Amino acid sequence: MDVEVFTLFPQWFDWYRGQRHVTNALGLGHTLECVDPRATTTLSGGAVDDTPFGGGAGMVLRVDVVEAALRARYEADPVELRARRRVIALTPAGRLLDDALAEELAAEPALTLLCGRYEGFDERIVEHFASDQVSIGRYVLAGGELPAMVLCDAVIRKLPGALGHAESAQEESFSAALEGAPEYPHYTRPAEWRGWGVPEVLLSGHHERVRAWRREQSRARAAAERPEREA
Ligand code: 6GU
Repeated sequence: MDVEVFTLFPQWFDWYRGQRHVTNALGLGHTLECVDPRATTTLSGGAVDDTPFGGGAGMVLRVDVVEAALRARYEADPVELRARRRVIALTPAGRLLDDALAEELAAEPALTLLCGRYEGFDERIVEHFASDQVSIGRYVLAGGELPAMVLCDAVIRKLPGALGHAESAQEESFSAALEGAPEYPHYTRPAEWRGWGVPEVLLSGHHERVRAWRREQSRARAAAERPEREA
């Protein structure tokens, strides 16, 4: 998978790119590159944003600046680009990122992530250049960079070989393997600490009983969380 992140803060991603599972993915041939719209802006002083029509606080990322950046990168009209490639605008009011969306995106050959800053995007960017709008939760962050990293992280761990063990992303919280339920609890040594033990079944060596116990725990957690998750 090739991921390009359009951001005014490309250096933020240097840290993220150094994380083990990310370097694993890059080693497998996946790519994660940043594109800085400031590099292709034709506005004086390297400007990329402007004050909102109608007044109000903050600055808005300009549609002409984002078009120039997309054209420079893909040598295509962004309106046509989004018909053949997922171009995702990170916006607080977008579709909520969940395991199913991460799974869907992990199957794509390429992703383009657009990060807004300050008050966000000129609406025409979202309307005409983006194929998707994605949010990581119902709260507002200063920009789309952290959400872009969260999205990358959720997607990258789905790529075969990115994690240490191929199966570790299979049966994790909210996955289809667990019917969308949270993951069962894990324990490791010591088997007792301050009088706190470990469920006996996990020490039993009965794989079938362990499997059944885990499934039951996962379902119980789903049942306990349901009222909160639907709120
Ligand atoms: Cl995608 N962007 C911003 N600015 N804030 C957010 C978000 C995105 N998702 C949750 N909060």
